[in-house]
Amino acid sequence: MAMLPKVELHLHLEGAAPPAFIRGLAKEKRLDIDGIFDDRGAYRFADFDGFLKVYEAATSALQRPEDYARLTLAVLEQSAASGVVYSEAFLSPDFCGGRDVGAWREYVQAMREAADQAERTMGITLRAIVTCIRHFGHEAARETARCAAETAGDWIVGFGIAGDEKVLAPKDFRWSFDCAREAGLRLTAHAGEWAGPQSVRDAIADLGVERIGHGVRAIEDLALVDELAERGVVLEVCPGSNVALGLYPGYRAHPISQLYQRGVKVTVSTDDPPFFHTSMAQEFDRLHRAFDWDDGVFAKLSRTALDAAFCDADTKTRIAKILEA
Ligand code: ADE
Ligand code: ZN
Repeated sequence: MAMLPKVELHLHLEGAAPPAFIRGLAKEKRLDIDGIFDDRGAYRFADFDGFLKVYEAATSALQRPEDYARLTLAVLEQSAASGVVYSEAFLSPDFCGGRDVGAWREYVQAMREAADQAERTMGITLRAIVTCIRHFGHEAARETARCAAETAGDWIVGFGIAGDEKVLAPKDFRWSFDCAREAGLRLTAHAGEWAGPQSVRDAIADLGVERIGHGVRAIEDLALVDELAERGVVLEVCPGSNVALGLYPGYRAHPISQLYQRGVKVTVSTDDPPFFHTSMAQEFDRLHRAFDWDDGVFAKLSRTALDAAFCDADTKTRIAKILEA
């Protein structure tokens, strides 16, 4: 599975930061965040709330556009080593210049240049989805949406929401999603991870998203599963993330196979790979072992992911040739 060409739709850029990279940056900046690492140098957290805290503490070491350029290169190098040929990463103006449009533009330019370099040297293509953070509130989300709208184009192609699903509701972010849609951005939202099926229904009805980040708890309502299948809503499923955070006890208990069998457009991603001790190659491998999925199934999943990608048609045609080769 390791070298099958892969398409990844759900990857948080900061969440993909190797711990050694963050530790090195923190050292350069004389920042004491040693508490977020265990004695083997991995990120240390006990549950989802702890994960979010460690994530934000790690992000505090990323302070300038150059840091984000280096991060982009480090992350794409990891993804390319897993066979990923096209990736969409979540970027947050909250962490990149504090939601100031002028600062945000500088971060975007730095990340885009790094992505262009990775495309030339590693053969991996990156596009970006600007993401607001639910527990930072709806006012912050409006500022984030303005940043997204100002930079929407052929590289920033989508808008989404991540963060703590237990806080506020999709409808509280309607203005931000309308703003992003009007700027031509395609839409996705984290739902059905820490809240049940109704959160998936709400994200679709209130925000008009075409993809759902996770969405796996739709399985608790089979009428919803059938509706997702009929409407062609794409799920960005991150099995390793769900298992690592204790949503399911293991891959065999994960609903991705049931969702797939019932006709839902599922795709596979890593979410925050070093946090969850995973990679795209490992995800494919673990799914192969849990469900006996073969190369044919994985080729289909990659094709589904490419069809659901937010990039332009020319980019899709180019990537499709790589998948088919
Ligand atoms: N931010 C990074 N990873 C996330 C996840 N799995 N759920 C919600 N917000 C996140
Ligand atoms: Zn996520």
